Amino acid sequence: MRYYHGSRRRRRVSIQSFPVAVAVFTGFGLLMLILRSVDPPSHGAVFLSSLEVEGDDRGGVRGGLNSSFALRNGTISEVKDVYKQRSGGLKSCATVEEMGESFKGAVWKESLRVRRIIQEHFAVNGASRIQNLPPEQFCKHGFVFGKASEAGFGNEMYKILNAAALSIMLNRSLIIGQTRGKYPFGNYISYSNHSFTLKKVKHLWRKNGCVKNYGRHLVMRIDDFEKPAKTYVLCSNWRKWKQPIIWFQNTTDAVACQFFLKNVYREMRDAASDLFGKPEDFQSRPNVFGELMKVLVSPSEDVVEAVNRVLGGGADPDVSLHMRMLMNRSVRATQAALNCIKKALRNLRQTSRPRVVLVSDTPSFIRSILPNINGFAEVLYFDYKHFQGNISQSVNLSHSLDFRVKDWGPAPRWVAFVDFFLASRAKHTVVSGAQRRVGTTYAQLIAALAAANHLANAFSFSFGRENSTGSSFSFLSSFQSNLLTGGLKLQVGWGHVWNRFAGPLSCRNQPNQCAFTPLLPPAWWDGLWQSPIPRDIRRLMAFGIKLSGFGTVDEAHLRSFCKSKKSTVKTVLII
Ligand SMILES: *[C@@H]1O[C@H](CO)[C@@H](O)[C@H](O)[C@H]1NC(C)=O
Ligand SMILES: *[C@@H]1O[C@H](CO)[C@@H](O)[C@H](O)[C@H]1NC(C)=O
Ligand SMILES: *[C@@H]1O[C@H](CO)[C@@H](O)[C@H](O)[C@H]1NC(C)=O
Ligand SMILES: *[C@@H]1O[C@H](CO)[C@@H](O)[C@H](O)[C@H]1NC(C)=O
Ligand SMILES: *[C@@H]1O[C@H](CO)[C@@H](O)[C@H](O)[C@H]1NC(C)=O
Ligand SMILES: *[C@@H]1O[C@H](CO)[C@@H](O)[C@H](O)[C@H]1NC(C)=O
Ligand SMILES: *[C@@H]1O[C@H](CO)[C@@H](O)[C@H](O)[C@H]1NC(C)=O
Ligand SMILES: *[C@@H]1O[C@H](CO)[C@@H](O)[C@H](O)[C@H]1NC(C)=O
Ligand SMILES: *[C@@H]1O[C@H](CO)[C@@H](O)[C@H](O)[C@H]1NC(C)=O
Repeated sequence: MRYYHGSRRRRRVSIQSFPVAVAVFTGFGLLMLILRSVDPPSHGAVFLSSLEVEGDDRGGVRGGLNSSFALRNGTISEVKDVYKQRSGGLKSCATVEEMGESFKGAVWKESLRVRRIIQEHFAVNGASRIQNLPPEQFCKHGFVFGKASEAGFGNEMYKILNAAALSIMLNRSLIIGQTRGKYPFGNYISYSNHSFTLKKVKHLWRKNGCVKNYGRHLVMRIDDFEKPAKTYVLCSNWRKWKQPIIWFQNTTDAVACQFFLKNVYREMRDAASDLFGKPEDFQSRPNVFGELMKVLVSPSEDVVEAVNRVLGGGADPDVSLHMRMLMNRSVRATQAALNCIKKALRNLRQTSRPRVVLVSDTPSFIRSILPNINGFAEVLYFDYKHFQGNISQSVNLSHSLDFRVKDWGPAPRWVAFVDFFLASRAKHTVVSGAQRRVGTTYAQLIAALAAANHLANAFSFSFGRENSTGSSFSFLSSFQSNLLTGGLKLQVGWGHVWNRFAGPLSCRNQPNQCAFTPLLPPAWWDGLWQSPIPRDIRRLMAFGIKLSGFGTVDEAHLRSFCKSKKSTVKTVLII
């Protein structure tokens, strides 16, 4: 798909592709620069600017890309790609569906590879083996700490999953932090016994006399991803860190651990690409977080009871739809989602009446879309108001969360867990739609878990057959056209799956889209149609990453950034 010339990656861009860019420049020198690149250039450069990429919802900066910045490396050169052939020429932008085409591929094969890595990791580093190590070995062992608070489930779950991923990269054991003796979301989620609790590690540390006999204190090194100036995610070889425990904080999305793909140390990059795949190869992005979640968590009995009540002993649903509506009832969102479900069912070509699960933060949305789907599918959803089960009686926390109603909707907290595990039973497709931002962390993890569950089933039916049906699972993003008048630029926030595509390469004024969506949301690196929004260019700059308008990374800049970064190590003494 992409061609590499020497060590630098370039994309060839024709002048017609970027009339906008040309218009921005008046300087003759610049124009020459641009014109030179029309010929197959060796060092030609085209400057890409986004004239009117808007600020974000936090009232951020408006206006175009900083032109002096972009020149410094909005340098773009050669692109040769499938789209060129398909469109019979170079295209200057892509629709979401076109972008999604790059993600159709044999994900299941890569996911099975990662599943094996995860299994082997926990066989070696799981609590059952490590806790029985002789003292000398135990006291040398390393851990990664993961902790979630009881905020939004998607973001908080990502904190734990990132910790798990990091534990694999570093060949350490996983600790899941508790609060007052309780696991995060402990009422709704059960944790497998692969991980430790901090309490258990402290107990074993004392029991084995790690301080007394080996002079080894239980020290935790903390790295805060939220503070670019302080994190060493890119600039340090974490495999060399000596502290027994490492806590990589505030990793609320799928991109946090993928930063290691760009770490300046080869050892870290290799560890990351073992898990996440090669960053430039979009066809093979393993379902890392889904596979991890499947191994680490399961719904509590109370949640299972509610899920089973909805399924009524029938088959698992074929398709799940998640709509994040923020109390809004958009007719266009409904219409787009409806078309997307129909498309998913057409691909299925099944003969029996399909089952569709509906999940939303806005219960009235479900009531409004339901009559439209009833005609061609059996609709299932969790009606919490009429549910009398253990969970609805035992849990009584919602009254303290009134301030969340605008964000999470009026349903009690526990309903989100029933919805999550209900939707993740989908056999074939998960569709994500929204009033504004599509593919939230919650929806991503529903799809990831469903795909991981499905892969298991597909393979138990066709054991040993290399070309099993495991590849038939899909995650679709449903966009109503009014979300796309300015391209994908409304998809701000790293938690949203299309955020890395929200820059100037996304076409404006797109019609409704129902797009294939990666189960592992990509970071910025090197995808064909990725382009950042100015806010993210600035934020990545603080991490040391100079990103061009086309989403390519200046590796030399990063290396010198890391060289000059002054080292501060934050640790906490536990024992
Ligand atoms: C534009 O970039 C230049 C050079 O990096 C910088 O000095 C200036 O502050 C930037 N302006 C804005 C508005 O970001
Ligand atoms: C930008 O990239 C070009 C070509 O890759 C390089 O020659 C130039 O030095 C870079 N500029 C900066 C400021 O890094
Ligand atoms: C962990 O759980 C598995 C299955 O749930 C069980 O077979 C195993 O004995 C458990 N190990 C420990 C140490 O509790
Ligand atoms: C991981 O650690 C175990 C000991 O806990 C060691 O036997 C193994 O070789 C390590 N693997 C890698 C890839 O470093
Ligand atoms: C980062 O994580 C720490 C520990 O969980 C927390 O105290 C802090 O508030 C977090 N920072 C942000 C900006 O969320
Ligand atoms: C619903 O969404 C539309 C389109 O985004 C917006 O114009 C409208 O103000 C929203 N309504 C409410 C009540 O939030
Ligand atoms: C619900 O709670 C009752 C009483 O504690 C218990 O007997 C029953 O097994 C529970 N049901 C489920 C599905 O957990
Ligand atoms: C649930 O919360 C309400 C309001 O805080 C309280 O009055 C009630 O006693 C609680 N019920 C249980 C079973 O804890
Ligand atoms: C899958 O395997 C079957 C035989 O097991 C073969 O006939 C079929 O062509 C294969 N399909 C693909 C897509 O490779």
